[in-house]
This record gives sequence, C-alpha cells and structure tokens, in this order.
Amino acid sequence: MNAKKIRISCILFLLCICFLCGCEKQQSAAKNKLYVGITYYNQSDTFLSQLNICIREQLDQLENDDFEIIIAVRDAAGSQRTQDDQVKELIDAGCNILFVNLVDRTDPSEIIDIAKENNVPIIFFNREPVAEDMMRWDGLYYVGADAKQSGTLQGELAVDAILADSRIDRNKDGKIQYVVLEGEPGHQDAIIRTESAVNTLKDNGIQLEKLGYGIANWNRAQAQNRMMQIIGQHQNEIELVLANNDDMALGAIDAYKKLNYTESALPLFFGIDGTDVGLQAVTDSELAGTVYNDKEGQAAAMAKLAVAIISGDGLEEIEFQNEKYIYLPYFKVTIDNVDDFTNTES
Ligand code: BGC
Ligand code: CA
Repeated sequence: MNAKKIRISCILFLLCICFLCGCEKQQSAAKNKLYVGITYYNQSDTFLSQLNICIREQLDQLENDDFEIIIAVRDAAGSQRTQDDQVKELIDAGCNILFVNLVDRTDPSEIIDIAKENNVPIIFFNREPVAEDMMRWDGLYYVGADAKQSGTLQGELAVDAILADSRIDRNKDGKIQYVVLEGEPGHQDAIIRTESAVNTLKDNGIQLEKLGYGIANWNRAQAQNRMMQIIGQHQNEIELVLANNDDMALGAIDAYKKLNYTESALPLFFGIDGTDVGLQAVTDSELAGTVYNDKEGQAAAMAKLAVAIISGDGLEEIEFQNEKYIYLPYFKVTIDNVDDFTNTES
C-alpha cells in the first residue's frame, strides 16, 4: 500500500516536472521567434530588389536552433495607402518586427501609430522619415547611408576623371557642360546627391556649365526619355552626365545608343549604387564610375538590430547615431577596383 502510494507520488512528481519543462520550452520558443514583416515602396526598383536578396540572406544566416526566423515580404507598388494596409495585415499575422521602406517618407503617421499600439518595433530603411516622426516612439530605428557622402564621392570621381583627361572638355572652352538626372523629388538622396556632387566639382576648381536636368524617379526608362529630349536640345555639347543612381545613368547611355552616337561624341557618365548592371557597365567602360551603396552592410545591420531588439541581447553593442540611426559608408568604384565589388556579389 505504502509502496503503491510512493509510486503514484513519484509519477505525479515526474508529470509535474515534465509539464513545467514543457511550459518553459514553449516560453523560450516564443521568446526566440523573429517574425519579420518587410514592405517595399516598389519592388521593381533595381537597388531594392537586390537589397531584398541581401536582407533574406542575412536573416537566414542568423537563424539557429534557439532562434527561429520567419519572413513575410510585401510590395506597396508606389501606394502609401497600400503600405499602411500591409503593415496592419503583417501585425495581425503576428509579426513582431517590421522593416519598412516607406512609399512617402513624409507620411509614416498611420504606420507608426499602429506599430506603437501593438508594441511592434520598426526599422525604417533606405527612405528616411523626417526627424520629428522618428522621435514619436522609442521603438523606431533607421538604417541607411549618408546621402551627402555619396554625392561627394561621385563629385570626386568626376574631378579625377576630368583632371586626368583633357579630351573630356571636348569644345575646349575650359568649362564642363553637364546634365543631371535626378531621383524622386522629396527623396533624401536625390537633391543632396546632386548638390554635393556639383559642389565637390566646383570646390576642386572645375568650371561648370549646366545644360539641363531631368527628374527620372530612379528609373532607367524615364531617364532614357528625358535624356533623349536633352540631347535633342544640345546635341553633342554634353560632356558630363551625373545621375543620382546607376539605373538613370544607364538610361542616359541607352539614349545615346538609340541615337547612334559614336563613342568620341559621348559624355562621361557617373552613377551611384553599384548594382549588378551598374558594376557591369563600369567593367565594360560604359560608366566612368559609380559609388557603392553598401546593400550587404545595410542588410547585415538591419538583421543584427532586429535580433538585438527582439532577444534583448546585444543592443548596447550597436553603434547608433542619435540613438536610433545607423548609416553605412559608401565607396568609390572605377574600372581599377570594380573586381573587388563584383567578387563580393557571388
Ligand atoms: C538608391 C536608388 C533607389 C532609391 C529608392 C536610393 O538610395 O540609390 O537606386 O532607387 O534609393 O528609394
Ligand atoms: Ca566644355
């Protein structure tokens, strides 16, 4: 009788232990789940489609036995309304962190409100919200790059090329006739890249004459159209094309090809990004240079930050600017070092 009682007590005791362990295991499983909801302003954007691959790779690398990572990706296709709805849907589906590439960087209010209400932190990336919005909650972060630096580096590439080859000033008037192709108005990278590139040329004593500019919204086909119009007005007077990104520089090259210009009548073209097609054009000597927008570095910073926020571990090791911003540096790319960048791609 006593032995039976002891046996029953032992079984009950073991059952209790199993139950408690089970709960603990469930709890830690829940704690170590990163469910990332990502939404892009437009997934057909060349740079962002490549950044998306890097983000997935970085998140996959961080997954291990203790940390489960689930990723859901949405494309807002240029509509802020759609993106607001996507954020609601992703939070309802159980996402515990969001990576948001805003459609309209001045209009994140609805997204911030719903994220704050549900206590789901947001890492904004590539399209930087204005400072007042970033201050609205301490669960908001930004990962990107310093627009001014990219323009300065593009300007330096152009200075070096112009000083190295007197044939670039084709009409020998001592000035460089140039055209600018700009990204979306209102994007933090567009105006600042143009200003800092042009100022760098001026500060280095290059005399400039602006022949025209076109807003081409980061887009290759739009850049080709705008460039065809500008070439129509100025024929072979253009000596330099500064584009806010590689796709638009490539669109400008497309325009000259379409018009059958001979190589000796072409201007110098500079882009920014170092996308696969951009780097290929540098290798082929079609683009005189580009500025590498470090998508691998940005993706790694986002993944690391997300894990730190959710696990509560390692946040103090991350070096922020103004407590919530991470900016990765840009790098100059020419024919001389392009291989260093194409090799990291594989
Ligand atoms: C990139 C562009 C891209 C844009 C999208 C910029 O930083 O240089 O290529 O289209 O971001 O937001
Ligand atoms: Ca000239």
